[in-house]
Amino acid sequence: MIIMFSLLILIEMILISPSASIALDELTPFGKDHGDIMLAPGFDGDSGEIRITRSFPFLGRTFTSLYVDINGVIAFEKAFGEFDDTKRSQIAGTTSMIAPFLGDIDTDDGGAIWYRQNTTKQLLEEASTDVRNAFPEFPHFSAVWMFVATWAKVPAFLSSNLSITNTFQSVLLTDGNYSFVRFNYHKITWTTETSGTEAEIGFNAGFSNYYYNVAPNSIRNISILDLPYKSNVNKPGVWMFRTDNITIQEGSGQIVVSGDFNVCSDSTITFTVASLSSHLNIKVVSSPFISSHFNDVLTVKALHLI
Ligand SMILES: *[C@@H]1O[C@H](CO)[C@@H](O)[C@H](O)[C@H]1NC(C)=O
Ligand SMILES: *[C@@H]1O[C@H](CO)[C@@H](O)[C@H](O)[C@H]1NC(C)=O
Ligand SMILES: *[C@@H]1O[C@H](CO)[C@@H](O)[C@H](O)[C@H]1NC(C)=O
Ligand SMILES: *[C@@H]1O[C@H](CO)[C@@H](O)[C@H](O)[C@H]1NC(C)=O
Ligand SMILES: *[C@@H]1O[C@H](CO)[C@@H](O)[C@H](O)[C@H]1NC(C)=O
Repeated sequence: MIIMFSLLILIEMILISPSASIALDELTPFGKDHGDIMLAPGFDGDSGEIRITRSFPFLGRTFTSLYVDINGVIAFEKAFGEFDDTKRSQIAGTTSMIAPFLGDIDTDDGGAIWYRQNTTKQLLEEASTDVRNAFPEFPHFSAVWMFVATWAKVPAFLSSNLSITNTFQSVLLTDGNYSFVRFNYHKITWTTETSGTEAEIGFNAGFSNYYYNVAPNSIRNISILDLPYKSNVNKPGVWMFRTDNITIQEGSGQIVVSGDFNVCSDSTITFTVASLSSHLNIKVVSSPFISSHFNDVLTVKALHLI
């Protein structure tokens, strides 16, 4: 009974509450009252080089400064530069970056972008707890530094309606050796400006054409507009990644499953939950659990309704 109950809760969260993204007051606190600096308004532009008080391990390298960019990016080594709407994809460029929402943002007529470094103990402890839950293989992770960047109510470049805005946040955490990045999507209502170049979410190492595109990839194919309602850690709107290693590791959520299983391949299991009013096929995409026990706690990489 307990087993089925857990699964039901998860499905409800995904299916029945499509409007339940992370609440504004669940974001890491931001704004002037929390010590944030506001980025100068504009349609292209960045903070300039920000020296950080702890070095940040990122995709096999370590950085001591970063740039916050209007266009939804935190870049290393050099600023992101202009949003190039002649390119279909900019996540695949040569800038090493963390991109919670690489899109053509314009804050000249609305919205604000905030950022700060923070080492407040309570804030770090809360953030570290979430990391430990999402990455059970790091039970002792304890961040010593965080960087928070928040894009609040930001409209698109040349938007004809300034009420159509996005609010999202990126939190960088490190203990000195490991690093984790959290994206919080409170509201995403636009993805493209007039030219039609769609926003993207992901990471770029800045060398060897190595980048990681979060929304359309081999474990999921979702629209940017879905980000507030989906998750890789079982909390709608929250996405977490381990980012120190060259291989990006996605967060996971522990769910308990039961049902009729079909092992489809090394990495996929589909199963049907017959006790729901309608039959649902759920695809669990995972890595390490295949040989282990069904009817047990599984750590899953992603959950799709198919
Ligand atoms: C760190 O964050 C806390 C909580 O939001 C805030 O009260 C504090 O002023 C921040 N410290 C700095 C140095 O920004
Ligand atoms: C602008 O967008 C808002 C939010 O979607 C909508 O309520 C409003 O009707 C729109 N205004 C115009 C003039 O289209
Ligand atoms: C970081 O790595 C060094 C070298 O392996 C080790 O001595 C240190 O304890 C590690 N620190 C943390 C916080 O894991
Ligand atoms: C992702 O979904 C879209 C819309 O359903 C589809 O057009 C596209 O081919 C899909 N891409 C991949 C890689 O599956
Ligand atoms: C980094 O990723 C590679 C490839 O997934 C893996 O073999 C290696 O163990 C990882 N290194 C660390 C320190 O986790």
